[in-house]
Amino acid sequence: MDPNIIDQLGRPIRDLRISVIDRCNFRCTYCMPKEIFGKDYAFLPKDELLSFDEILRLVRISAAFGVEKIRLTGGEPLLRKDLDVLIQRIREVEGIRDIALTTNAVLLTKQAERLKAAGLDRVNISLDAVEDEVFQRTNGMGIKTKPVLDGIEAAREAGLAIKINMVVKKGMNEDQILPMARYFKSTGDTLRFIEFMEVGNHNGWNMDAVVSKTEIIDRIHEEMPLIPLDADYFGEVATRYKYEDSSTEIGIISSVTEAFCSSCTRARLSADGKLYTCLFATSGFDLRERLRDGSTDQQITDYLLSIWTGRADQYSVDRAEGKPMKHNKIEMSYIGG
Ligand code: GTP
Ligand code: 5AD
Ligand code: SF4
Ligand code: SF4
Repeated sequence: MDPNIIDQLGRPIRDLRISVIDRCNFRCTYCMPKEIFGKDYAFLPKDELLSFDEILRLVRISAAFGVEKIRLTGGEPLLRKDLDVLIQRIREVEGIRDIALTTNAVLLTKQAERLKAAGLDRVNISLDAVEDEVFQRTNGMGIKTKPVLDGIEAAREAGLAIKINMVVKKGMNEDQILPMARYFKSTGDTLRFIEFMEVGNHNGWNMDAVVSKTEIIDRIHEEMPLIPLDADYFGEVATRYKYEDSSTEIGIISSVTEAFCSSCTRARLSADGKLYTCLFATSGFDLRERLRDGSTDQQITDYLLSIWTGRADQYSVDRAEGKPMKHNKIEMSYIGG
């Protein structure tokens, strides 16, 4: 199998983001607003989730295509039982050189060491404020920052590489940009500011609520001068900067004001086994059906090949160019960001 398969826009596949569960213990207002994701919301029943064996089979097949990075997401991935067992098995797959996890970290205090021992390389931890009152509002569950900060410390002690993700939304937490920057400058962790995106159908997105990359950088630079850095690798999502007077870095994920589709090497697998070739897709390709109908590895490989070679997604570029957008997009909590 040729690991340099490219899509319609010349992009190879390098990352597979795997959602292992669609449930979450948070109700962030921009992702899973309580009013929609309440008691009656129909989450996936257990038998619809891919088993570890099924996930592993897809990881093995996609590694032969050039996938090198696996990111486990949710919902909240740490709610999936025995996640360390899955990680340990992914670690054994030839060609996979990076295993990462995106989490809200509340369950990390208990699990960090076990995950690291299983072979996890790094964690991206979501935290939208350092002030309790603001954070309690954004996570929709009244959870204070302490359990997340404890999770970050547990990750550090376990030796996991750490990045912090802060979604910035006007009227929600823009007053936390500087306090967050100061706090993580002092701990030395890379903090990444994420422009509020129009994912899903329920987060009430509009352009007025976006705090742009330029605005964020200007605000920080005024108090703590920044130097731009080169990308670490092709397809990196964040634009990186470092503080002039320290080695601490920050990043900005500017999917709204500066699309990065031209280097998008990511595919996404939902917890029920659908493959999506863009975060803003409206439909996916059913791999679970093929995993469960007796298809051979070769047949699944051929199917993946036809999906990737036919891929032409560049949603953020299209939106910026004013092309009409589709409705009924997949939910962020379903596909893991
Ligand atoms: P690294 O490998 O550490 O750079 O991780 P990452 O930034 O790719 O993953 P993470 O799960 O931490 O995502 C951070 C933010 O970037 C989230 O808001 C994601 O939704 C967003 N993001 C990641 N990949 C893409 C993408 O391909 N397109 C868009 N529009 N946003 C993305
Ligand atoms: N816009 C930008 N980022 C979002 N995330 C969730 N919803 C949105 C949104 N609407 C972030 C989470 C997490 C990552 C996977 O995606 O905070 O850090
Ligand atoms: Fe859960 Fe992450 Fe969505 Fe917040 S952003 S509700 S932590 S999946
Ligand atoms: Fe990739 Fe779609 Fe995001 Fe563009 S909008 S970077 S194609 S996932």
